[in-house]
Amino acid sequence: MDYHKELILILDFGSQYTQLIARKTRELGVYCEIYPFNMEREKIIAMKPKGIILSGGPKSVNEDDAPVCDKGIYNLGIPILGICYGLQLTTLFFGGKVEKSAKREYGKAHISIDKKDKFLEGIKDGDIVWMSHQDKVLKIPKGFVTLAHSDNSPYAAIRNEKGTIYGVQFHPEVHHTPKGKTILKNFLYKICGVKGLFSPKSFIEMATKKIRDEVGDEIVVCALSGGVDSSVVAALIHKAIGDKLRCVFVNNGVLRKDEGQEVMEIFKDRLHMNLKYVDAEEKFLKAFRGVRDPEKKRKIIGRLFIKIFEEEARTIGNVHFLAQGTLYPDVIESVSHKGPSAVIKSHHNVGGLPKRMKLKLIEPLRELFKDEVRIVGKELGLPDNIVHRQPFPGPGLAIRIIGDITKERLQILQEADSIVRDEVERNPKFKHIWQSFAILIPVKTVGVMGDERTYANVIALRIVESEDAMTADWARIPYDTLDIVARRIINEVPGVNRVVYDISSKPPSTIEWE
Ligand code: XMP
Repeated sequence: MDYHKELILILDFGSQYTQLIARKTRELGVYCEIYPFNMEREKIIAMKPKGIILSGGPKSVNEDDAPVCDKGIYNLGIPILGICYGLQLTTLFFGGKVEKSAKREYGKAHISIDKKDKFLEGIKDGDIVWMSHQDKVLKIPKGFVTLAHSDNSPYAAIRNEKGTIYGVQFHPEVHHTPKGKTILKNFLYKICGVKGLFSPKSFIEMATKKIRDEVGDEIVVCALSGGVDSSVVAALIHKAIGDKLRCVFVNNGVLRKDEGQEVMEIFKDRLHMNLKYVDAEEKFLKAFRGVRDPEKKRKIIGRLFIKIFEEEARTIGNVHFLAQGTLYPDVIESVSHKGPSAVIKSHHNVGGLPKRMKLKLIEPLRELFKDEVRIVGKELGLPDNIVHRQPFPGPGLAIRIIGDITKERLQILQEADSIVRDEVERNPKFKHIWQSFAILIPVKTVGVMGDERTYANVIALRIVESEDAMTADWARIPYDTLDIVARRIINEVPGVNRVVYDISSKPPSTIEWE
């Protein structure tokens, strides 16, 4: 069944939780998409959504430049749920009153039910909800009824008499509202009347059909890196079109230890994909000679990769499509994700590739969030060590070898990094860690091993927790683990006599050192 038929639209008024609303909705088996708050009524009608959710937002509804939705959406007969700002906007639109309270209500609150309603089925007096607002509804509009209140919010949940428009002052999408998912589920299933057609299985079914229709008998080429996104893209397209998918794995020399063999073993031997291994290590190392500047390293990697990949694609011949692992967060025109984000590091960018090669893009993961990509990958039979892999930067170890990249320095880092992987990334105890890796610092220090004085390299450890890489904090790893990692690196990696732990957060530092 086509889950697009049960589309829920989320209009984004700039809340930091907008993506969370979407993820919770999808976890409940309902497909949804996020659009800017001012999406026009006609566009909405054309998409035939089963329901609309108005997100929260940082503004006050009474401000002159407060964001407003197309007022025509309220008379479409499509169920609407306003969350926080969404509730306040709806209240104001129908003639109620919203005012700034002297005190911001932030944190836990207990709600009391005023009127039984299917929207709050499963919720009882005293249940905890999460509040985060300054404005509050002082008077609800005519034609609306109160479903619940809290100590500070007399109108914590309301609806219109017809039961098509709902609003909550609290945030059902955050996990601090323990029964928030029940409330969202009630809205989706009992009010919007969905059946819940969205699942990893239904996604795979739809996506493979779409890929087949789009590709026909043509050839698709995919640059497989072994990262989560490119791996799932490859597995999905392979399921759809088999050998018409040609994968290319370029060993650029700055991969983690044994990465190349692992990728070949999984994708070629186990999943029987048409995968070509290109050993370009020497070419890359030659290009890195004498280069210390991180941005130059990135540019070299990007350019050389494109050149090599293009050459390979040409040898395949008659390629029409290029597969790419674009995800939903890259697609959303989200209000909360716009704004001045300075480019601090030029990310390894092969975005120019399809244009140069005159290829059509195929991006089958455009609808998915990262956690959904992992679930789809698992469903497609990819092993855990692929789907739960930590992010790894395109420029690889090149930006973790501070200064000159030589074969010898590369080997030192690969060995040290492999120990960190063993002890942290592969240890289920540290599943919550965002990234954990080693960095080779261009400094030698004195040590003593046995009776001998040594003068050798320093390895830094970077282990961070993060939600999205925009901010990060150093992980409070147990001392015992740090101790094991440091001892193993110093004992097992020739040329290293000291290990230090990076305790800086992002910002002001970054996750990578270069
Ligand atoms: P920073 O160091 O900016 O990293 O805090 C944020 C996230 O991005 C990754 N990163 C890169 N990924 N090409 C990539 O594909 C790059 O040039 C690059 N630089 C950083 C980094 O590993 C972290 O996950």
